[in-house]
Amino acid sequence: MNIQVKRLSYALGAEVTGVDVSKPLSEATIGAIRAAWLEHQVLVFPNAELTPDQQVAFSRNFGDIELNLTKHYRDAASPGVVRITNRVVDGKPSISRNVGRTWHSDSAFACVPPMGSLLYCAALPDVGGDTLFASTYMAYERLSPTLRGIVDRLEVVNDRLAAPELTWIPPEQAARERIEYPPTVQPMVRVHPETGRKGIFCNETVTVRIHGMTVEESRGLLHYLYAHSIRAEFVYRHRWNLGDLVMWDNRCTIHLAPVDYDMNQVRDMYRVTLAGTPTGRVFDSSTE
Ligand code: SIN
Repeated sequence: MNIQVKRLSYALGAEVTGVDVSKPLSEATIGAIRAAWLEHQVLVFPNAELTPDQQVAFSRNFGDIELNLTKHYRDAASPGVVRITNRVVDGKPSISRNVGRTWHSDSAFACVPPMGSLLYCAALPDVGGDTLFASTYMAYERLSPTLRGIVDRLEVVNDRLAAPELTWIPPEQAARERIEYPPTVQPMVRVHPETGRKGIFCNETVTVRIHGMTVEESRGLLHYLYAHSIRAEFVYRHRWNLGDLVMWDNRCTIHLAPVDYDMNQVRDMYRVTLAGTPTGRVFDSSTE
């Protein structure tokens, strides 16, 4: 196969052509895709035309598939696939219709967050339905050396229940989820386990404060980092075409799915998640 990789923006993102991702691939091809992924952080495979099973098979080339930590998002027919859709499901609005409305890396509340995700576009509104990605490497590298020295030493407290999309859940469910997904302590700066590069690893969706500080004390620095991390020059905006497959590295990017479209029109996406390596520990108030 003759793979071509074309950059899509300055900070991150590349389009990969010359490979049929619906078919089994050689070790050399998988190696070339992985190298491109580590370099560009987000890869776009146009016209991938995949079934959910083919998406899972392609994803397996890059790691173990993780069943989504949030069990009720899983697709019953293919448990490795999460359906992110605003279609009506079983006569009710889909519970995943508002996934990703604030900047985040996937499951950053978990002690072992996923390595990456592969999102496939099955249905699109007439306009919009885009996904934005930002490079956390570039955000870190553009901080002053003094601030890098400070953030390198800090940790944050992340809490899944702080995510805006979960504000609807009833108190009994929140109590159960608090036990299943307790708050965790994560490094503010993550070292990528394969490239060795550092990236800012806190986000507006689940980070509630700096470990060892109050919410008020944390606010100024966290808000600065959130705003800095999504500066236009660090961002690639993907405008989907039907059949696109996008593969992102969760260890060095954050992403956002804005409501930039008519929610009466269908947007239907299938996501497969790759298991990652440990970053954090369960929060223990006696250690502060
Ligand atoms: C997500 O994984 O956060 C959703 C991304 C999207 O639907 O574009």
